Amino acid sequence: MPAERLDASAIAHAAALLRGGGLVAFPTETVYGLGANALDAAAVAHIFAAKGRPATNPVIVHVAGVEGVRQVAAGWPDTARRLAERFWPGPLTLVLPRTAAVPDIVTAGGPTVAVRVPNHPLALALLREAGVPVAAPSANRSGQLSPTRAEHVPDDLADAILDGGPCPGGIESTVLSLVGTPRLLRPGLISPAEIEAVIGPIERGGIGVGPLPSPGLLERHYAPRTPLTVMPGAAAECGRLGQGGMRVALLTHQGPTAHPAFPVESLPPTPEGYAAGLYDALHRLDALGVERIIAEAVPEGEEWLAVRDRLRRASA
Ligand code: TXA
Ligand code: MG
Repeated sequence: MPAERLDASAIAHAAALLRGGGLVAFPTETVYGLGANALDAAAVAHIFAAKGRPATNPVIVHVAGVEGVRQVAAGWPDTARRLAERFWPGPLTLVLPRTAAVPDIVTAGGPTVAVRVPNHPLALALLREAGVPVAAPSANRSGQLSPTRAEHVPDDLADAILDGGPCPGGIESTVLSLVGTPRLLRPGLISPAEIEAVIGPIERGGIGVGPLPSPGLLERHYAPRTPLTVMPGAAAECGRLGQGGMRVALLTHQGPTAHPAFPVESLPPTPEGYAAGLYDALHRLDALGVERIIAEAVPEGEEWLAVRDRLRRASA
């Protein structure tokens, strides 16, 4: 189905599809989501089937405002109230105790539900018009790159695709558990330091060190089809491999390479700029049909945590 422009009739049509149990791909400030009525188990089952998503990986529920949380979450601790006040609408997903209204398929059978208010006019208009909480993972087949443009969403995934242009954030939301001690489950556009400035110390969940307490977080994920290697000195490596006859492409944030003999995607040298362009660049590099993508390693330091996480998973 062709992507629809942002207008009232497209939103009304998409909202009616959601209420009727259909699937709608829609833009958020992070990536495009593949949405279904979160209270309709059969509709959410269609998301899992369309994506080829393992049933062990729960999905995020999107609501239009804090009022919408009550229907899906059984608890609203003071930490949640403060974080929502500071970061919603925005790219912070909170894991809370669930209510009985939430079907098991949404939570992968677990006692918690992940919820957020997206900061995108089209997403918010859709949520308000639909009048139901919307379960939405990223609108890609399981394990593949998340879409940051409507064109990235596979045609046959949804009953309708709302086109809101490129997503400004570019990578997925931060996922924070507020069940027990606050714990970072997935780094994202809101940094641990920003969260800690509001609620004090949080646990890092051993990200990049050991297993995570959230299902579906450790597999190869967010990955291009082309094998990806992340290393320092990526441009030189591309030169070497190219001379040896391999078709390679470079992803870098270190500025222009003099007369490269290989395709190059350049990203800004800041974590926000890099995140905003990362998946878009990987989608383009993946379309080149090269044998290998070599990405320049990004700096250490927590500002780069979410970007390093995505690069690590894309190259796993
Ligand atoms: O930015 C985003 O979060 C995007 C947009 C569409 O909102 N959504 C997204 O969804 O990235 P998805 O399904 O690709 O990632 C959801 C993540 C997964 O890592 C999943 O394991 C975790 O959230 N998650 C969902 N429900 C959870 C729960 N109840 N407990 C722990 N982790 C949960
Ligand atoms: Mg995803």
